[in-house]
Amino acid sequence: MADKPTYYITTPIYYPSGKLHIGNSYTTIACDAEARFQRLEGKDVFFLTGTDEHGLKIEQKAEELGTTPQAYVDDMAVGIKKLWKLLDISNTKFIRTTDDYHEKAVQKIFQKLEDSGDIYLGEYEGWYSVSDEEYFTETQLAEVYHDADGNVTGGKAPSGHEVQKVKEESYFFKMSKYADWLLQYYKEHPDFIEPASRMNEMINNFIKPGLEDLAVSRTTFNWGVKVKNNPKHVVYVWIDALTNYITALGYGSDDHRNFDKYWPADVHMVGKEIVRFHTIYWPILLHALGLPLPKHVVAHGWLLMKDGKMSKSKGNVIYPETLVNRYGLDALRYYLLKAMPYGNDGVFTPEDFVDKINYDLANDLGNLLNRTVAMINKYEDGVIPTFKPGVTEFDEDLENTAATVVTNYRELMNSLHFSDALSEVWKLVSRSNKYIDETQPWVLAKSTDEADQAKSASVMNHLAESLRLLAHLLQPVLTQAPGKILGQLGLSAQTVSLDELHFGTIPAGTKVVAKGTPIFPRLDAKEEVAFIKAQMTKTDKKKGRAAMEAAKKAVQTADEPELKSTKKPIRIEAFDKIELKVAEIKSVDHVKGADKLLKFKLDAGDGSDRQILSGIAEYYPDPSVLVGKKVVIVANLKPRKMRGEISQGMLLSAEHDGHIQVVEVPNSLVNGSGVE
Ligand code: MSP
Repeated sequence: MADKPTYYITTPIYYPSGKLHIGNSYTTIACDAEARFQRLEGKDVFFLTGTDEHGLKIEQKAEELGTTPQAYVDDMAVGIKKLWKLLDISNTKFIRTTDDYHEKAVQKIFQKLEDSGDIYLGEYEGWYSVSDEEYFTETQLAEVYHDADGNVTGGKAPSGHEVQKVKEESYFFKMSKYADWLLQYYKEHPDFIEPASRMNEMINNFIKPGLEDLAVSRTTFNWGVKVKNNPKHVVYVWIDALTNYITALGYGSDDHRNFDKYWPADVHMVGKEIVRFHTIYWPILLHALGLPLPKHVVAHGWLLMKDGKMSKSKGNVIYPETLVNRYGLDALRYYLLKAMPYGNDGVFTPEDFVDKINYDLANDLGNLLNRTVAMINKYEDGVIPTFKPGVTEFDEDLENTAATVVTNYRELMNSLHFSDALSEVWKLVSRSNKYIDETQPWVLAKSTDEADQAKSASVMNHLAESLRLLAHLLQPVLTQAPGKILGQLGLSAQTVSLDELHFGTIPAGTKVVAKGTPIFPRLDAKEEVAFIKAQMTKTDKKKGRAAMEAAKKAVQTADEPELKSTKKPIRIEAFDKIELKVAEIKSVDHVKGADKLLKFKLDAGDGSDRQILSGIAEYYPDPSVLVGKKVVIVANLKPRKMRGEISQGMLLSAEHDGHIQVVEVPNSLVNGSGVE
């Protein structure tokens, strides 16, 4: 048998400088859906993801936490792998840039480029953004600060991050030498960068204004791959990172069979802010190494929040664990792939998230399955009738819709248009629901006319055939529901080649389950929107100031009798007995055998950690969101034991409509400060 065609797809490798959020998860889930789709298309797929573990940002982060960079990245990589497991990511390999084979290969690549004269030693003077791990000339800065004499003292990168002045000996890569070659390559490969608008952006904003040689080493910090011949230099983190796409396949190692087999990559999927690295530096580097270029670099937009980009400092981050634990994995995978239009930004709102589950999944798809299984049980004793063409006047249109949807879906999935591919699938969902309304099986079933009974049987078959197709089409995106749909229809959940997706293949005698259960239960929209909003806790300074103002106002009006309270008035002395303190949450764990309890370790300025137990576990499906938050505790409660664990105080929390949330205070408050 001939070898299967190969398909190599990669995610960017993630900085382990913080917990990954639903934005980062989008890139990985999108690549996973593509990898699963290509497997259904019969390809031999290699799907790579991993972590980008070197650089100043990581070195500084570890220092902040009082640990070593290695211990820090080891810990973070475990968490990231665990997340991909939770999200059912089917990657072939996970590369870490601290892997020994990768570091050795990077050194060889660097040496090779130095030997060929593409890398030379010089001195770099300019600006560097640690957050972006990127160099800038003064003219590239979005904002520049001056001192009284007009000298430039600092500034901001286009990303908004602060830059710092650097002047150091550095190796340079001769990017400028390859600018014309690259333009020519773009011309000959118009689909190299997708969407095409990004290619124009690269040409007009970066290549035409003149490509400068790139500083590819640093001497002022240690956490990176050392240049073999000159170990005071570490390789620039982006050079180290980009090469992961080939070192993971064994390039630069003894065993390079995967490289020979899978390179060049079919798709590098990247977010819009890193297109430049992947479509200018990376192709030039590969060309200088004498290697072919990836076939496509596909750029996606950002998943934004209403107030802009997701960021910890804005306090608007949503973590995938929170949504998966509460709504299931398929809900998140569907939402992300549907909500991000091809090549553009998408906006996350709790309302839209809940609507997509309720309307698309629970109503449209879930109900189609429920109604079909219930009707087959009621009208056909649970057995799916066999396929016959042209029995009702609506059959052909449904069959044609299915055939068109399969064709369009394949085309859209092949070009990574996930949201459009899902819209296409939902055309078949809608057409099937409409088919029920048109054929009115409940009327047909009551009729004693043989022709009507044949029609009723045909309707049941067509609905089951439609659902079978839907389950298979959804397999790359949803990893759980398709098996459940097929299971309720009495069919095996085996993967099926997309060539077999047509009507008339359900075996005679197939029996549906006696009673189907909803695969996507309907959500109480109000309650769930409130829940998701509560997870997006705000801690930024502006909000902190607003809260202070509000508190001041409350004090000023405290004598006014109409203020509402559910408790008896007390004298100020009673309040004085309570010692309230600011504390920082260091860790949170569940308490074994007590579903409701969470165990907090806090820094309340006592010199050692304080342990407090609180019965709020049900309001925090992912309690780790609380780590790092500053809260207020009652510090002078008598210690007490609960479930064998000591509790040394109480956390203040707020209750509204039965939902409890810990009261957070601005991060600028010092641990142990008294609250009065
Ligand atoms: N380490 C580099 C990539 C090196 S690849 C050789 C990096 N890492 S990252 O962790 O900052 O970003 C990884 C990916 O996550 C990027 O493609 C980025 O666009 C994506 N996203 C980060 N936030 C995102 C959203 N809010 N929405 C969608 N994708 C987002 O860059």
